[in-house]
Amino acid sequence: MLDIVIFGGVGDLSLRKLLPALYYLKLDGKLATNSRILCVSRAKIDYEDFLALVEERLKHFINDDFNDDSWRDFSELLQYIDIDLGGKKDWKKLSRCLDITNSKVGKKIIYYFSVPPTIFAPISKELKTNGLNAENTRVVVEKPLGESLKSAEIINDIIRDSFEERQIYRIDHYLGKVPVQNIPKLRFDGGELEEIWNNDHVEDIEITVSETVGVESRAEFLDRAGILRDMVQNHLMQLLTYIAMEKPKSFDADDIRDAKLEVINALCPIGVDNVNTHSIRAQYGSSNGLSSYQDDIKLSKNKVSGTGETYVALKVNIDMLRWHNVPFYLRTGKRLTARFAEIIVNFKDREPLTIPIQPLPVMEKEMRIREAYELLLFDVINGDQTHFVRGDEIMSSWKWIDRIRSAWDTVNMPMRIYPSGSEGPMIK
Ligand code: BG6
Repeated sequence: MLDIVIFGGVGDLSLRKLLPALYYLKLDGKLATNSRILCVSRAKIDYEDFLALVEERLKHFINDDFNDDSWRDFSELLQYIDIDLGGKKDWKKLSRCLDITNSKVGKKIIYYFSVPPTIFAPISKELKTNGLNAENTRVVVEKPLGESLKSAEIINDIIRDSFEERQIYRIDHYLGKVPVQNIPKLRFDGGELEEIWNNDHVEDIEITVSETVGVESRAEFLDRAGILRDMVQNHLMQLLTYIAMEKPKSFDADDIRDAKLEVINALCPIGVDNVNTHSIRAQYGSSNGLSSYQDDIKLSKNKVSGTGETYVALKVNIDMLRWHNVPFYLRTGKRLTARFAEIIVNFKDREPLTIPIQPLPVMEKEMRIREAYELLLFDVINGDQTHFVRGDEIMSSWKWIDRIRSAWDTVNMPMRIYPSGSEGPMIK
C-alpha cells in the first residue's frame, strides 16, 4: 500500500508537474489501485471542486494524453484534506486518514513538501509529534533549499530533526532528465570514452543552459536569488559533477553521490583574486523588440531592487589529476537566443562530443518522452536515491557559491548588460 501526501497539493507545482506525473504513472500501470494521493492545503474547498480543478488543469497540461477512462481511474486515488499547515489543530485529520497504527507493516508513505521552505519546520515537527513518521516513510523536498550555506543548514537541520538521510529525497529536476541520467552510462559502460576523458585529450568542457523566458511573474524571487543561486548552485553544478566525477565504487546511490561530492569539494575557489577573470554577471537589456530586465521588474506588485543577475558565465577549474589545466565553462541565462541545454566536450585530438540535454531529438512519434518528475517520483516510490541530492552535496555547493557572491560584493563586480535575444557575453 502506498500513500502519497502532497503538502501544497493544489499549488502550482502540484497541478503543473506532480499530478500530471502521477497521472502518467497510473496510466503506465506503475501505481497500484490501492494507492492514494492525498492533496493537502489550507484552502477549504469541496471535494467536487477539488476534482474539477485537477481535471481542468490536467486537461490543460497533458492535452492529448488526457482521456475520460484514465481520468476516472486516476481520480479514484485522489483525496483532499484541508489543514492549516502552520498551525497545530488540523493534523488529526491527516492522522485519521493515514491510520498508521492500524496499517499493515510495510505501508509506504511519501510526504512531498511542495511548499516554501518557511513552512518545512512546522510540517516536519507536526509529522513527528503526531507519530506520522513511520518506518517506511519518505520525504521529498524541492528547491530552493536555502539561499546560502547558512540558510541551507537551517533548512537541513529542520528536516533532519524529524527524518533520517535515507528518508530524504532532495529534488533537482535536472537529475530527472533522461540524457542526464545517461551520462554515467555513456562514460562508464566500458566504451573508449573513459580512456580519453582526461586532460591528455580534453581541451575544455562547456556546460550551457540557455533560456528564452524573462523573469515573467517571478521577479521578486529571481531578483533576490539571481541566476547564480537559481540555476548554477543546483542544475549546472549537478551536470558538472556527472561529467567530472571519477568512476564510482559501485552504482549504488551513495557511491555515486560520494563521487559527485568529491568533484564539488575539488572545485577551485572563485574568490576576490580571480572573480574578475573567472566570472561574468549580467542582466538582459531591451533589444529585438523585447523589454529589458529593469523594465520587466517594474511590473511586479512589490518593489524589486533590480540587483539580481539574469546571466552568469564562469570559468571553473577542478583540482583533480584528471582535470588539471582543463577549464569548464558554465553558462546560463534568461532571454537568450534559444532554449536549450547541452554539454560540449572539446577534445585536443578529435571532433567535439555534444551531449544534448534538451530539447531532445524527436524520436518515433508514438514514443512519449517521460518527464523528469515522472521518473523521479517513480524512484521515490522504489526507494532509489541515486537521482537525488545528498545533504553534504548541497552544503558543499553552497559554500563554493557563497564565495563567488561575496567576491562580487567585495570587488563591486560590474553588472554587464546584454541584448535580449542574444547569446549573452562569453567567458571563453
Ligand atoms: C528552475 C528555475 O529550477 O529551472 C527556473 O527556478 C528555470 O528559473 C527552470 O526556468 C529551468 O528548467 P528547465 O527544465 O525548463 O530547463
